[in-house]
Amino acid sequence: MRKSEEGADGVALAGIVKSFGATRVLDGIDLAIEGGEFLTLVGPSGCGKSTLLRIIAGLETADGGTVAIGGRRVDHLRPDERDVAMVFQSYALYPHMTVAGNIATPLELRRLTLAERLPLVRHLSPRRPRVMRGIMAEVRAVAETLQIGHLLDRRPAQLSGGQRQRVALGRAMVRRPRVFLMDEPLSNLDAALRVHMRSELAELHARLGITFVYVTHDQVEAMTMSSRVALMDRGRILQLGTPSDLYDHPATLAVARFIGSPPINLIEGESDGAGGVRIDGARLPIAQGVAGGTRVTVGIRPEALHPAPPRHDGPVLRARLKRAENLGAEWLLHAILPDSAGTAVVARITAAEHEAAQRAGLIGEELALAVSASGMHLFGADGARIAVRRLAGAA
Ligand SMILES: Nc1ncnc2c1ncn2[C@@H]1O[C@H](COP(=O)(O)OP(=O)(O)OP(=O)(O)O)[C@@H](O)[C@H]1O
Ligand SMILES: [Mg+2]
Repeated sequence: MRKSEEGADGVALAGIVKSFGATRVLDGIDLAIEGGEFLTLVGPSGCGKSTLLRIIAGLETADGGTVAIGGRRVDHLRPDERDVAMVFQSYALYPHMTVAGNIATPLELRRLTLAERLPLVRHLSPRRPRVMRGIMAEVRAVAETLQIGHLLDRRPAQLSGGQRQRVALGRAMVRRPRVFLMDEPLSNLDAALRVHMRSELAELHARLGITFVYVTHDQVEAMTMSSRVALMDRGRILQLGTPSDLYDHPATLAVARFIGSPPINLIEGESDGAGGVRIDGARLPIAQGVAGGTRVTVGIRPEALHPAPPRHDGPVLRARLKRAENLGAEWLLHAILPDSAGTAVVARITAAEHEAAQRAGLIGEELALAVSASGMHLFGADGARIAVRRLAGAA
């Protein structure tokens, strides 16, 4: 397999626009995907992810803009001339062929003439047996990589979902693409298998060293596998960055809302003009330089809320506990803020912290939630992030 030290090919998109009829589905996409990276396009249903991937593959033509792979424009090239491989949500395996036959097909199409592939006539070709031996050796190598070497004689109907998924990956891998494109390849698998295949795909990416462009609407998939994530909404890229960039420094309220599970807590407030935000009778010292009376939204990650001891000297929210959910290693405390129009919030704490807080009598029907500064974000009325300045003492 091609290794990254050879210099994997990146993908550069500039000014990509696409409409279907009167509907603009891609609204000027600029994206430089580096050679060898695992980039995920994530976003809500209908935001244009698949359309963008199909434009890279050449299965769809953009109305404007350019696509380059490995520094060369490919806009004028047919899909099979672009050296990319695409794996879809529906694996589209040939049901009448064995696993070996399915994986071998792209190589047979490439290396055998039409006559050499026709039933009856093909046996007349003197070179066919040699070419097929070479193809089967490559098929076996790819199948070993994917741990489906023992399944080569089965048909798709005799495989599990995860095994079928690996056959589809194998069929894409034998072509030794410069770029691997995947559109929700795990969405037909059950939850446990999806988690397992996530790490397999990440390992496969590391081993092949080629560029992966991966589409999903599942933010957990995006966060766990990718070197960088492009979060899309309505045909635009809202933010491009590493998973931690998006989680720790969301550029807009929309990004903050989309990334994170359970989702970020959002509380409406108002700047007091003296470096604080008033929410829920509490004052959060996070709005340095924001004019008094400015409406803001405070975003607090669930892990930044903790049951507060009685004389806690940082900011505290008064809450009413609705439900405590035991996740094993963690607890989710579902509460509402009575002073803040009953805004619902979730605190996420470790099992050990939960036990200690229980013992100290901190978790009752009423509880105080301490807010740690590191998980707080501030957004203006336009949804843009306001730089948060942390003051000493607001730990
Ligand atoms: N061939 C087509 N003709 C008309 N409209 C289309 C076509 N393909 C896609 N669309 C529309 O373009 C928009 C973007 O579709 P796309 O498939 O790219 O979304 P997506 O982000 O992949 O969504 P999902 O997560 O549901 O797969 C949608 O509103 C869709 O209805
Ligand atoms: Mg799609």
